Amino acid sequence: MVVEDWDALGRIAALIVAQQLHDNPLSVLALPTGKTPLTLYCWLVRMYDEGTVDFSANRTFNLDEFYGIDRDNPGSFAAYMRREFFGHVNLRPENINLLDPLAHDVDAECRCYERKIRDAGGIDLAILGIGQNGHLAFNEPGSPFDSRTRLVRLTPQTIKDNRSFFRDLSEVPHFALTMGLGTIMEARHVLLLASGRRKAKVIARALQGAVTVACPASVLQQHPKLTVVVDKDAAARLLDVGSRSR
Ligand code: PGA
Repeated sequence: MVVEDWDALGRIAALIVAQQLHDNPLSVLALPTGKTPLTLYCWLVRMYDEGTVDFSANRTFNLDEFYGIDRDNPGSFAAYMRREFFGHVNLRPENINLLDPLAHDVDAECRCYERKIRDAGGIDLAILGIGQNGHLAFNEPGSPFDSRTRLVRLTPQTIKDNRSFFRDLSEVPHFALTMGLGTIMEARHVLLLASGRRKAKVIARALQGAVTVACPASVLQQHPKLTVVVDKDAAARLLDVGSRSR
């Protein structure tokens, strides 16, 4: 679906989330961070204030987190989620799942996250942004399609792209914990969001290019229930499939 702009993207995505919660009030959600979903969270908070959505029975799993910083660091995704969403809606604290950025035993932390997702009955709706290099969550190019939650090294581009969350570039962590592509692909429904001209090239590559680990988001072409919402700018390089096949 192509919408006018970033705000419309957030509104449509919020309506898709609301429909999901209406169909299954116990839905388990995988949640993204970054700039793209800010309008989504804004609309969800607005809808919550108006009484049209209720999160009291939902469980959430964030897609990723920087590794090696405190959760109170304003650049952490835990802080982002508190600021933009968790602090404004009625999700129960015990139903919110975040990867521990200071986990000593990283493998145990990642295994435990996978187990919690399984115990929750799996993810019903995974909401994703996309990196300019095609990453999903922090699954950078080269990530295996069957990868699970793990520690990853961030690419220089991703480190630069996350600079705005920190006081300066030197503070951006070089490692992160991320759900794997295999974990994400097991979600029953995936909602991919992208906004702005700087995402146009990667959206075309991910959705209409070859399915390859060089562009991790291309794996979504194999997902049985994928919804894509992009604004006009992000859709600018998509080929019209109808005209292409003529
Ligand atoms: P952005 O990041 O929303 O800040 O562009 C998306 C991503 O890197 O997954």
